[in-house]
Amino acid sequence: MTQFGTVVAAVLLTLSFSASAGDPAAGKAKAGTCFTCHGADGIGIADMYPNLAGQKEAYLVSSIKAYKDGSRSGGMAALMTPMVSALSDADIADLAAFYASLDPK
Ligand code: HEC
Repeated sequence: MTQFGTVVAAVLLTLSFSASAGDPAAGKAKAGTCFTCHGADGIGIADMYPNLAGQKEAYLVSSIKAYKDGSRSGGMAALMTPMVSALSDADIADLAAFYASLDPK
């Protein structure tokens, strides 16, 4: 009974954790397109592509959402908006967790 209680608590903890924060492993699996410009290690492949490795997770979420909803539209944003327009909130959280977990070098 005690063991069962522990398992239930662990499952609930995992569920509540994944609801509030992204999963870096899931984010990595979803980041294939992003690698083209931001690099597999989160370091932009050319000067015009920003580094994302080690960036703050909350900032990554808000910037991706800003491209998605069109509120961030200056500079090179026209490149980013189509990249993120189909992402769900869970996708965005996972991608942000993945890039935040990388070493900024
Ligand atoms: C075609 C190249 C390209 C691809 C592919 C791409 N990006 Fe970008 N990304 C850019 C450029 C260029 C900028 C800078 C845009 C600007 O001036 O606001 C940018 C900016 C960003 C920023 C803001 C960085 C900052 O410091 O403010 C985030 C976050 C981001 N991209 C995430 C992603 C994610 C996640 C994906 C994959 C779903 C992705 N990008 C795919 C080119 C790309």
